[in-house]
Amino acid sequence: MKIYKATVKNINIAAKLLLKGGIVSFPTETVYGLGALACNKEAIERVYKVKGRPKNNPLIVHVYNLEQILSITENIPNEAYKLIRKYWPGPLTLILKYKNSSNISSIARANLKTVAVRIPNHPVALKLLKVVNQPLIAPSANISEHLSPTKASHVLKDLGNNLNEKKDMILDGGSTSIGIESTVIDFTGNKPTVLRPGGLNITPTNKYVKVSYIESNANNTTPISPGLFKKHYAPNASLRLNAKFPLKGEVWLGFGKDPKNIDNFTKMNLSLTADLDEAAMNLFAMLRLLDKKNIKKIAIKEIPNKKIGIAINDRLIRGSSK
Ligand code: TXA
Ligand code: MG
Repeated sequence: MKIYKATVKNINIAAKLLLKGGIVSFPTETVYGLGALACNKEAIERVYKVKGRPKNNPLIVHVYNLEQILSITENIPNEAYKLIRKYWPGPLTLILKYKNSSNISSIARANLKTVAVRIPNHPVALKLLKVVNQPLIAPSANISEHLSPTKASHVLKDLGNNLNEKKDMILDGGSTSIGIESTVIDFTGNKPTVLRPGGLNITPTNKYVKVSYIESNANNTTPISPGLFKKHYAPNASLRLNAKFPLKGEVWLGFGKDPKNIDNFTKMNLSLTADLDEAAMNLFAMLRLLDKKNIKKIAIKEIPNKKIGIAINDRLIRGSSK
């Protein structure tokens, strides 16, 4: 399997492959997605298979504009509209009521009466959606339960062997700028609920919507959203969180200035200047690098639980629970 630079020419080729039922991995601002036509049952079945993803875990439908959203959903609540206006295109996924007359494959929705939608904020993703001119499902392009990909090379490593050189394609648009998956908010229950903290930090005091957060949802054993099982986003190495100092046999993954006297340890740093956005951008790529070096134990400095740090901590807690 080869990687293709996301030029206009290659995006056009990718669109043709999608329309013929192929699978295309493409960059979004959060992580790389594994795209297929949202109406094509066989292609979507192959996406589940390629990822090793359980079929009860529904996929996000990616669209280009509001018109497409209106064609697949109904009864969009007022507060959801406000978020759409304010934050789309962007790292936000909304769970809305599915419109039965629409043609999104039921296996993409895991047979639910709801559907997850988002307009991604990335020129390559938007161009591809525009050329294809119909909704695409796109889960993160990694093996199920592993770290999401933030570079095309991550997709190749995880899924290259499972994709078909002739039918499928990996588009390379460089490293993703946010580095952590979209925030998922469910608007189909009694009140809007954040199912997955992500790239966009929506707090309970948000100006546009009154959301409830599932308290420490990383520790839930009953999945509210099927994708919220505890074990997810896991590197091969074991993670020790909120560490002050590395212990013997551990590698240090820092945030902000490193502690003194750790020169004898292998170390990396998510952001020397303690910038949470930079840390989010680096997180999965650094964990993948450490896995590549066959590191067994990683000690990670405490990450402040604010802004995108909330999503970072969510992923770290899940990644550390094995
Ligand atoms: O940033 C992202 O969201 C990336 C990029 C590629 O857009 N995609 C992504 O997809 O992270 P995935 O499949 O890895 O995660 C989708 C999440 C899962 O937790 C899934 O359970 C949830 O969205 N989800 C999808 N449809 C749902 C539904 N109808 N009800 C509740 N949760 C749903
Ligand atoms: Mg995923």
